[in-house]
Amino acid sequence: MNFHVMTLFPEMIMQGLNVSIIGRAIEKGLISIEAVNIRDYAFNKHNKVDDYIYGGGAGMLMQAEPVYLCYEAIRERITSGSRPRVVYLTPQGEVFTQKKAQELAKEDDLILLCGHYEGIDERVLEEIVTDNISIGDYVLTGGELPAMIVVDAVSRLIPGVLNNDVSAEFESFQDDLLEYPQYSRPEIWHGKRVPEVLLSGHHANVEKWRHEQSVIRTRERRPDLLDNKEKS
Ligand code: ADE
Repeated sequence: MNFHVMTLFPEMIMQGLNVSIIGRAIEKGLISIEAVNIRDYAFNKHNKVDDYIYGGGAGMLMQAEPVYLCYEAIRERITSGSRPRVVYLTPQGEVFTQKKAQELAKEDDLILLCGHYEGIDERVLEEIVTDNISIGDYVLTGGELPAMIVVDAVSRLIPGVLNNDVSAEFESFQDDLLEYPQYSRPEIWHGKRVPEVLLSGHHANVEKWRHEQSVIRTRERRPDLLDNKEKS
């Protein structure tokens, strides 16, 4: 998977993602991440990429042309023939889910577009964007953190990125259930014991207990997920 992030703050993307598991995945060649500076495609000598908003209103808007030229430059480099998927990070998008991460993980190339200021000229969005994604119902100062979240969630689904593929499959949300509680050594900490069944070595009982705990936890913390399950 090759991620191409269109941004005004490329260093933020690279510093945030070139570490830990994602950093190792890059090193191993399982994924690649390039952060492309939209400002490099400014068409005036001041490198300005924003301007006032027609019709009035507070703040500035990112102009269409630098965004388009940046997109075209990336598209020319992408070898796969078909139109690339372009994800625009915006609070107006569909809310990002594990299911969406799985869908995006099937692509060879993914372009992520980060907005700033009051947003981006609608005309270029109409021409290049295939998916509008929000990471939740709150407003951030830019699309960089949301883009990093999408890159992280998608990357960990690429085979080999996690040390054991099993954990990518069985974690929170994969089955619309939250993950069960987990424990490591010591057996007693602050007077709290690890649940007996986990020490029993009885696999079937452990699995049964974990499933029950998942259901209890989901009911307590995210009852909306159980509603989804019943509907599907
Ligand atoms: N840009 C600003 N806020 C955002 C959000 N919640 N999700 C995606 N992109 C954003």
